[in-house]
Amino acid sequence: MIETVTGLADLRARVDAWKRTGLRVGLVPTMGNLHAGHHSLVELARGRVDRVVASVFVNPTQFGPHEDFARYPRTPEADAAGLDAAGADLLWLPSVETMYPYGPEATVQVRVPVVTGMLEGAHRPGHFDGVATVVARLFNQVQPDLAVFGRKDYQQLAVIRYLVRDLAFPVELVAAPILREADGLAMSSRNQYLSASERPVAAGIQRCLQAMRESMRAGVPRDQVEADAAKRLADEGFEVDYAVVRRPDLTEPGAGEGGPRVALVAAKLGRTRLIDNLEFEP
Ligand code: PAF
Repeated sequence: MIETVTGLADLRARVDAWKRTGLRVGLVPTMGNLHAGHHSLVELARGRVDRVVASVFVNPTQFGPHEDFARYPRTPEADAAGLDAAGADLLWLPSVETMYPYGPEATVQVRVPVVTGMLEGAHRPGHFDGVATVVARLFNQVQPDLAVFGRKDYQQLAVIRYLVRDLAFPVELVAAPILREADGLAMSSRNQYLSASERPVAAGIQRCLQAMRESMRAGVPRDQVEADAAKRLADEGFEVDYAVVRRPDLTEPGAGEGGPRVALVAAKLGRTRLIDNLEFEP
């Protein structure tokens, strides 16, 4: 079974020993409650480095006051077994005290400007400060050569790219493809909150993203595509936070401008907030 370490000195000892013999180390940061999507991140890392550290830490600083930090599922045994099967070598399982020695409120914070003010950042104030803060800490703790993040959290990836470039972390970032259920629903720990009647409806997000792509390709103006998508989702029973088309850096493209695009949706179904995206060439 995979070895679990909970103290920084033990983590450093393991990683230093690997590095002294020239092994490359990868990190897969997670908040636990792992599913096949997370396991695929480990498998991706496994193919690129010699040793894989997976971290499981439910990070209090990235949850808003009305979000589900206390309710967030903790499944340590299943997580360890899944990481073991996926090929991780070490599970880094810090406590809140280990991650934030001065407490989450008194922590040194990392704030990423520019990419955090819109979309998820606008709907979840402070969320990306918490993500950037904990990812910077994880990079310092584990000192990985490479780190894998999923494309499903598209804006998070943009934030982490900015963080790595701006603070010159010597870490290669790898963006992993979105894993989907058979009906197209993006895999997420939140899917388990969907009721039996909501579950088939949830796959409508992926169909909507595909429709947005096809409309853009057919030359429908972006404003219209976004309005149509929001209406379609609302008609299906979603409460829509946003349904937009952006450049890959998340800025708004000009009319008639070429280049790659990403369609992004965030919408609530009942009490469950879902996000998804689709990258495409126009
Ligand atoms: O994507 C996640 O699970 C989290 O935001 C991350 C990157 C592990 C930071 O807590």
